Amino acid sequence: MYPSQITTHTEPITRMSAQTAVRRLHPLDLARQRERGEKIVMLTCYDATFARVSEASGVDALLVGDSLGMVLQGHDSTLPVTQADMAYHVACVARGCDRPLIIADMPFGTYQESPELAFRNAAQLMAAGAQMVKIEGGREMAVTTAFLTARGIPVCGHIGLTPQSVFQLGGYRVQGRADGDRERLLTDAMTLEEAGASLLVLEAMPAKVADFITSHLRIPTIGIGASTGCSGQVLVLHDMLDIAPGKKPRFVKNFMAGKDSVAAAIAAYVEEVRAGTFPGPDQIYPE
Ligand code: KIV
Repeated sequence: MYPSQITTHTEPITRMSAQTAVRRLHPLDLARQRERGEKIVMLTCYDATFARVSEASGVDALLVGDSLGMVLQGHDSTLPVTQADMAYHVACVARGCDRPLIIADMPFGTYQESPELAFRNAAQLMAAGAQMVKIEGGREMAVTTAFLTARGIPVCGHIGLTPQSVFQLGGYRVQGRADGDRERLLTDAMTLEEAGASLLVLEAMPAKVADFITSHLRIPTIGIGASTGCSGQVLVLHDMLDIAPGKKPRFVKNFMAGKDSVAAAIAAYVEEVRAGTFPGPDQIYPE
């Protein structure tokens, strides 16, 4: 760190843009939002233009998701996405915005084998412009989570429906419905928190299960097909703009409906997440 970057304040030094002081959000900022009871708004993003529009619409965190394999590249799963693909899209997003926290999905095969492999690949994504990486999996990812966080890489966990395990799970199915699932998912969540994860995505599970997990954690939870009670929400950009091919999952809402611009659609999403009105009863799994 250069001496001029050292601050004696509790708030990190800001970077001045032409108009106003803008500072990149940190994982701690999202934790504070949860403490204040303010919902966290996350959206997937893959390029500089959508990063700029999302930032202007008030999105807190941009997830460069490996969903890009499906919505950009036309694959039928996220499995073919490569490390080079992710680094390229993270760099595009980072060039397009100043404030949102940028989270990079680690693609299939780049982190499961060993913590050391995970570190090398996560470090590349951080160098490309991410401030956090996301890895799928529960307690089996605890050692890797601890390894990364001990070496300066914030980690977002992801449990419930984990798309990289689609073949193991037998399809894109709601999780957490079988006997013992609620406790199993809670143990996964608490183990990841204990290992140092800063954030946890809960995907496709009954709202009661998501609420149960959220109430037991200190770190924020981000729901997608989970519960309004999560600390925040995420959606795939192309799903909420209603331009993704194929059948939409129940938890997707078309925010383009009645809007005349992408910016207005994203702003409506931000407003509904902040107000706690998205997801509504139509977008959650009651049981
Ligand atoms: O890749 C992605 O977009 C994701 C979200 C569905 C959470 O992981």
